[in-house]
Amino acid sequence: MTSGLARLTDELGILYGGDYNPEQWDPSVWREDVALMREAGVNLVTVGVFSWSHLEPRPGEYRFDWMDQVLDLLLDAGIAVDLATPVASPPPWLGHLHPESLPTMADGTVLSYGSRNQFCPSSDAYRAAAVGIAEQVVARYASHPAVRMWHAGNEYGQVCFCDRCAERFRDWLRARYGTLDALNAAWATVVWSQEYGDWAEILPPRVAPYHRNPSQELDFRRFGSDLLLDLYREQRAVVRRHDPARPVTTNLMGFFGGIDPHHWRADLDVIADDAYPDPASPDAAADAALVNHLARGLADGGPWLRMEQAASAVSWREHNLTKSPARLRTEVLQALAHGCDGALFFQWRQARSGPERFHSAMLPVAGADTAVHEGVRRLGAELRALRGLVGAPVHRRVALLWDWTSWWAATQVALPTARLDPLATLQAWHRELWRLGVVVDVVPADRDNVALDGYDLLLAPAQYVLDDDAAARLDAYVAGGGHLVWGPFGGVADGSSHLHVGRSPALLRHVLGVSAEEWVPLPDGGSSVVWTDTGLGDRPGTATVLGERTRSDGAAVLATYDDGPLAGCVTVAHHAYGAGRAWYVGADLTGPGGALTTVLRAALDGAGVPLGGQVPGVETVWRGATLVAVNHTGHPATLDLPAALAAGPDVVRAAAGLTDALTGSRYRPADTLPLAPHDVVVLGAG
Ligand code: GAL
Ligand code: ZN
Repeated sequence: MTSGLARLTDELGILYGGDYNPEQWDPSVWREDVALMREAGVNLVTVGVFSWSHLEPRPGEYRFDWMDQVLDLLLDAGIAVDLATPVASPPPWLGHLHPESLPTMADGTVLSYGSRNQFCPSSDAYRAAAVGIAEQVVARYASHPAVRMWHAGNEYGQVCFCDRCAERFRDWLRARYGTLDALNAAWATVVWSQEYGDWAEILPPRVAPYHRNPSQELDFRRFGSDLLLDLYREQRAVVRRHDPARPVTTNLMGFFGGIDPHHWRADLDVIADDAYPDPASPDAAADAALVNHLARGLADGGPWLRMEQAASAVSWREHNLTKSPARLRTEVLQALAHGCDGALFFQWRQARSGPERFHSAMLPVAGADTAVHEGVRRLGAELRALRGLVGAPVHRRVALLWDWTSWWAATQVALPTARLDPLATLQAWHRELWRLGVVVDVVPADRDNVALDGYDLLLAPAQYVLDDDAAARLDAYVAGGGHLVWGPFGGVADGSSHLHVGRSPALLRHVLGVSAEEWVPLPDGGSSVVWTDTGLGDRPGTATVLGERTRSDGAAVLATYDDGPLAGCVTVAHHAYGAGRAWYVGADLTGPGGALTTVLRAALDGAGVPLGGQVPGVETVWRGATLVAVNHTGHPATLDLPAALAAGPDVVRAAAGLTDALTGSRYRPADTLPLAPHDVVVLGAG
């Protein structure tokens, strides 16, 4: 998987560039584009993502002269191309000739053309046209020397509830369950008189009078992801017919619910991710790190690519704050520290027309004489200097467990509370880890192809779904000496959204040494939590949202609820199991008192994981033998270098000193490292 990216970076170094939409501009502008790209250090651009109507203005009528010229211009300038199959936005003629190619929403509304993404993934007309235009593009340019990578579609995510999708859904269900009896059992259709007697009766979860069947909804989520994966695979197959070697990918969207990227990753030669952290969020830096850790997890710990980001503001939020060039630099170098080997943008040149006319770009509508563009140029030069980082592994010993099945199932209707948002829980736990200076991978518990035993500590903040296989893997992990921290409302349901029977978490309670008999939403303001182990703390914490009516079945109780409906029940515990240890955290403990921080610190300490995070808002990450220090704050900071070294890999601890990759300054382990506001320093061991 990661070798796809190495093919490019071995030759080009750190990738730098973005979406390039020359069809929106007069050819006279193209020359200026290419000249400015060169000056900015751009080495890769994504061409043609939304160019279908410009390439095939009428069905079967093609116009490639403009793209020929653009690719030749880029080739002459030494700029590589990530060439798109332009299937994300069909031309109006497709919807006009084939209205059934348009997508239908759950309430029956048919979405029109006039925007983008307007296709039903099951539509034969769409699929034939999409394969048709891809065939034309790929056949024509497969041997063009500028093309180095293929970009199938764009941000796959469109689902549809039409009758054809219903048929496909039935096919998918037949393959999964074989018989109607098995389906009826998996969906528990006996509830509310939903038993199916004929496959033809089965529908997508369309708008209905009251709550829909959660098992049906969960399967429709899986199906939607698989259906889009089929589309992607069709595009990939077109490429492979003409080009056996160059990497094919599409852009993922971090924590986007529409597709399950863990199910896609084997088909992606490069893990490519789009990210638009909100500059208005006080947690932007920590949350951006989490998205990066997800991408790296998808890439099996290897390098990955940031396919899209904004040079300054986006235009799709309600109030779109700009980013300073310094802030952009911190985001780009932060991703680099996290294993990213390329910084691409949406887009190269800011549009002057269309819905994205106010979306920032590497080259603003105001031109090259702007702070944004100057920042882009400086960054391009820096990335060239940092080429040595390419391919280096990120030093991490901890993983956060997170899978799409659990996320989907834990956000369905009619739960004990709608206030326990699994993604918010994941982010909250990660923000603590980020503050403690701990780098994590985000990996799924529900896949057997992820090696868990390489990690010293696993944290499962929101593992609502737990099936037998995942439970067995976690059991073996702890028994074998691993440390596991288990969060609230975990292991509650199976992969069909049915609750496990017995004291909870039924499949893991023997590992945790704690069990629960009831899920209990907590009063507004939460319940107070007191430490029974005063070695951990004497400040009461706060448990909010949802707790569990628990008892210890052998675990050492560390904290209990002091008041409220769960007074006296276990809130935090730990339990020796086999050669390892399990920690139980029974509620959202992020409230006043900082109980979550206390537990996570203790768990990290127990697992022997060193902490970084010596200065608040300053992130330090080891990539290979290189330390990247990122000051996310608006004020100067000073790092204690020996302390930072202590958290580094052995090779660094043994090194005599570190050299600033950009200025050449030498630091000895006895030195401190000053960081200007929003500054990043990259220090290499030598
Ligand atoms: C992405 C998309 C791009 C552009 C960008 C703007 O979702 O792939 O084409 O629209 O958002 O932020
Ligand atoms: Zn459809």
